[in-house]
Amino acid sequence: MKIIIINGPNLNLLGKRENDIYGDETFNDFFEKLQQKYPKIELAQFQSNIEGELIDKIQETGYSFDGIILNAAAYTHTSVAIGDAVRAIKTPVVEVHISNTFSREDFRHKSYIAPNAKGIIVGFGLQSYELALQSFLK
Ligand code: DQA
Repeated sequence: MKIIIINGPNLNLLGKRENDIYGDETFNDFFEKLQQKYPKIELAQFQSNIEGELIDKIQETGYSFDGIILNAAAYTHTSVAIGDAVRAIKTPVVEVHISNTFSREDFRHKSYIAPNAKGIIVGFGLQSYELALQSFLK
């Protein structure tokens, strides 16, 4: 089974960025542990701060991978184009957020991804990604 985690803008700063909200762990450390815990799953990861690069990666993996775990970060709340890309592909997408976006500012309550996602997982810290991964194991 091939699953890719696609992370949007500023998620390259995990471990350094607003630690009270996003925690102390870097994404690479977390990703390494996740791959060790699920050795049978072929895990890939991609991060970009650029909207078009995220769309390119969604298109590129959206017909061959078994699942996409997508944290589009701030683009979640603004990007019609990423929402359309998720709708266009065949691979199921689970939307994740580290923080509980619904307990934060109103502008974070809107998601252009959610209507086209298989499901959404928000608010469990980095564990949100693991819960999304488990959803593909069924
Ligand atoms: C986030 C929530 C977004 O609102 C924010 O812009 C992010 C991270 C999260 O994982 O909690 O950058 O997607």
